[in-house]
Amino acid sequence: MSTVLVLNGPNLGRLGSREPDVYGSADLEQLRTTLTLAAPEGVTVDLRQTDDEAELIHWLYEAVDERIPVILNPAAFTHYSYALRDAAALVTKAGITLVEVHLSNPHARETFRHTSVVSAVATGVIAGFGFDSYRLALDFITRSLSPAA
Ligand code: DQA
Repeated sequence: MSTVLVLNGPNLGRLGSREPDVYGSADLEQLRTTLTLAAPEGVTVDLRQTDDEAELIHWLYEAVDERIPVILNPAAFTHYSYALRDAAALVTKAGITLVEVHLSNPHARETFRHTSVVSAVATGVIAGFGFDSYRLALDFITRSLSPAA
């Protein structure tokens, strides 16, 4: 049995009612269901959300200590949290996959969203595909968990 951590940063708990024109009208529970159904047998999706930078960082430590691959939507922390970036670097430097995902395409939005301080230490970045950004990341991770598949 393998686990994939799906970590979501600030304001993503309001998915569904928050700017539906940008983020869609489905909420985080629907994302959990979508990913759980998409996960192959033997893969558990552990989806969490926090508005707290420290909590998110501690979850990344957990990923390092337990060697769990991560799908991370850092939300607004993407653009300025060097602390989160350093914690994300601990994950990838330990040889564990961390895929940065975004529902929207930040590059098509306000200028401050064009910078990600996390991307340079992520394994890869998927943005602009709504829930499919997460599904693509999950697909990549699960295929790397079982290279023969
Ligand atoms: C986001 C994009 C960020 O710029 C924004 O602050 C978010 C969500 C996305 O998923 O598109 O909260 O990470």
